Amino acid sequence: MHRVILAGVVVTVCGAWFAVADDGVAKKGDAGQLPAFEPVMSTHSLMEEQGRHFENMLDLLRDKDAKNRFKRLNHEARALAEMANINGYHKGSREHDDYRGWAAQLKAEAIQFADLAKAHNVDDAKKLARQMSKTCKACHDKYAS
Ligand code: HEC
Repeated sequence: MHRVILAGVVVTVCGAWFAVADDGVAKKGDAGQLPAFEPVMSTHSLMEEQGRHFENMLDLLRDKDAKNRFKRLNHEARALAEMANINGYHKGSREHDDYRGWAAQLKAEAIQFADLAKAHNVDDAKKLARQMSKTCKACHDKYAS
């Protein structure tokens, strides 16, 4: 009796798990045969997030006394880099080399910014932030007007 119930539970749990795996969630042993990555956020929502992370970075650059300043700068920059990474997979962006190029550039710059934050290098991080807003603008001028 117990065994039958247990088998039922195992089948149900596995069924749910495979349904999730089919939905594009990586599982152990999948290396090399992962389904193509599909963003679940609209470009619009993703941009709201990019805007939020970038604003947080600028606030932390200004605020010398912020608690855990460099740790948070590093986190915000990495999160922005991930957003830019995902943006390169959005349907529209796949069709445009220049769009993907700007997304890749922002990703690289945000990773570099995170490294500067780790090294507590505020001067270079400020310079890089100015360069990053040019990258935002370059893409916006063509695609967000
Ligand atoms: C590779 C292209 C690209 C880059 C790089 C880019 N954006 Fe965007 N951004 C867009 C597009 C496309 C839209 C319009 C999206 C929409 O509303 O459908 C947009 C819109 C926005 C919006 C407006 C969202 C709204 O409320 O309408 C914000 C805020 C934003 N981006 C922030 C940023 C910031 C900050 C950066 C740089 C750190 C950045 N973006 C870099 C493509 C880009």
